[in-house]
Amino acid sequence: MTSTAMRTHQCGELRVDQIGQTVTLAGWVATRREHGSSLAFVDVRDHTGVTQCVVDNTVDVRAEYVVRVTGTVAARPAENVNDKLPTGGVEIQDCVVEVLNVAEAPPFPISERTDTVAEGTRLQYRFLDIRRERMQRNLRVRAAVNSAIRTAMEDQGFVEVETPMLVPSTPEGAREFIVPSRQQPGSFYALPQSPQLFKQLLMVAGIDRYYQLARCLRDEDLRADRQYEFMQLDAEMSFVDQDDVHTAIGNAVIAAARAAGHETGEIVKITWHEAMDKYGIDKPDLRFGMELTELTDVFSATEFKAFAGASCIKGINATGKAEEFGRNKLDGLTDTAKRLGAKGLVWMKVAADGTLESPVAKFLTESELAALAERLAASPGDLLLIVADEWITTCEALGQLRNDLGRPPVFEGPYRYLWVVDFPMFVGVDDVTGRPKPGHHPFTQPHPDDVDRLETDPMSVRSQAYDLVLNGWELGSGSIRIHQPELQARIFELLGISAEEQQRKFGFFLNPFRYGAPPHGGFAFGIDRLVAILAGEENIREVIAFPKTQSGADPMTNAPTPVADKQLNELGIRVLPRVD
Ligand code: AMO
Ligand code: AMP
Repeated sequence: MTSTAMRTHQCGELRVDQIGQTVTLAGWVATRREHGSSLAFVDVRDHTGVTQCVVDNTVDVRAEYVVRVTGTVAARPAENVNDKLPTGGVEIQDCVVEVLNVAEAPPFPISERTDTVAEGTRLQYRFLDIRRERMQRNLRVRAAVNSAIRTAMEDQGFVEVETPMLVPSTPEGAREFIVPSRQQPGSFYALPQSPQLFKQLLMVAGIDRYYQLARCLRDEDLRADRQYEFMQLDAEMSFVDQDDVHTAIGNAVIAAARAAGHETGEIVKITWHEAMDKYGIDKPDLRFGMELTELTDVFSATEFKAFAGASCIKGINATGKAEEFGRNKLDGLTDTAKRLGAKGLVWMKVAADGTLESPVAKFLTESELAALAERLAASPGDLLLIVADEWITTCEALGQLRNDLGRPPVFEGPYRYLWVVDFPMFVGVDDVTGRPKPGHHPFTQPHPDDVDRLETDPMSVRSQAYDLVLNGWELGSGSIRIHQPELQARIFELLGISAEEQQRKFGFFLNPFRYGAPPHGGFAFGIDRLVAILAGEENIREVIAFPKTQSGADPMTNAPTPVADKQLNELGIRVLPRVD
């Protein structure tokens, strides 16, 4: 029931069924139009919609005044019926209007989509921005998604446990926000990047299935899919394998999508290797083709020096794009490939008669060109792009080009979810220490078939880490964790973290594992990202009530701000000029 002491109905509720009833609405004046010499039409709005009220034109109300209107529901004259509005068949007549509050003229119109309003202005007046239909809808989608996630997790036996916001520094990769301690000047807490270590300790503690809608904080550069503060569905399970985790999380995602009005198709699984090989990225967007096609064998005996001897040659077919790409744009594509480490990019345009036109065509034999055209299913008007390099470089360069040329906006259907599994345990080597760098976090269990190669060939070891991907965005990550102290020690050894450093940094986490840690694994997905896509938005800011701008500021509260010397003194802190 939405009637209260101040209103009988909401502004989107009235229909022809209520004709003749006396009703009271409360809300904001959306628009006012003079009607003849003595009347005015005032549309009154709340989050459910608007209702047209016929008022005496001496009533002094303007846009965004807060009003209470009592009157009789009447049918609109036929010529005034508005089929686009759910309330468009009725109006309220004989109105008594009470002004509950006046309002200054808003800095932008509330009743229209204000996409043209500068972001800074929208965020400075976020309380007005949220009054608009778009933000009302998005925040309500978000609430429905949160609620569905909770229900889905609880139905599967997960227990919600809250973990602290003031924590020690943890090794999760991103830069942390730190909080000075007043009681121990010179010591600092960190704000949690995620509840990772606590949720694993909850497994040692026998909670069995933990979940939390967890606020996480990371001091990273902000982008469309990143804010300093964000929410995760964070979960951890005992006595499980990867598939158990995928099923439980999949159920929560399916329920979340349904709450936002979307059915979810099959969540497919592919290995990291296959994702890289076919799509050139570990978060492939499956909504479009343009897959990376193997060409190494086509050029095995080539005399073209850019291809000769290359360990991996692949191509993509940007169908129908030949005409669109003139010289400048082609140079842009080559720059992209080079930025990703490729030595160059070969492009070919398929002419009307099927000939492949390219500055390098003359270096290739007829049979190479014919095999290439066949492999890439070339048709007139297509643009073919080819890279020859190490496998990973070839894949990454073409993967970026594939996305640049074919990827629709993230929120466009159909939604294509996938699990990417078998990530490599290590990615590259640390410039300073020369040690392998962990792909996920250092508590990730290696693939059982590969453990023997940890010391001899670490770069070939797969991990039991997995990601959930939706339309080319990473929704979340997780892994089966290491629960055996000896294996954990081996990993730290490999990473070059000494026993002393292990104790100092992670002792509080590692020591409990000596007291009977069950096998366990878990996952976390970004609720902001999921909601943005489900709500049809390209930036997670649009589904967060009070987000930060790209530069990390909040124009409404002016945070961050300097603090008083007294506060700093208490903390034993003096602000010095920054040294970069
Ligand atoms: P990870 O660091 O991959 O894993 O984070 C999981 C998911 O959180 C979301 N996310 C963000 N969303 C908005 N803004 C950000 N700055 C941001 N950073 C991350 C993403 C991401 O996929 N503890 C591990 C999970 C685990 O192993 O269980 C973790 O946090 O959607
Ligand atoms: P070059 O022989 O360096 O003048 O290159 C001739 C053409 O081949 C240019 O268009 C380069 O961008 C392209 N090219 C060079 N190296 C590679 C490579 N490894 N893979 C794909 N194209 C390349």
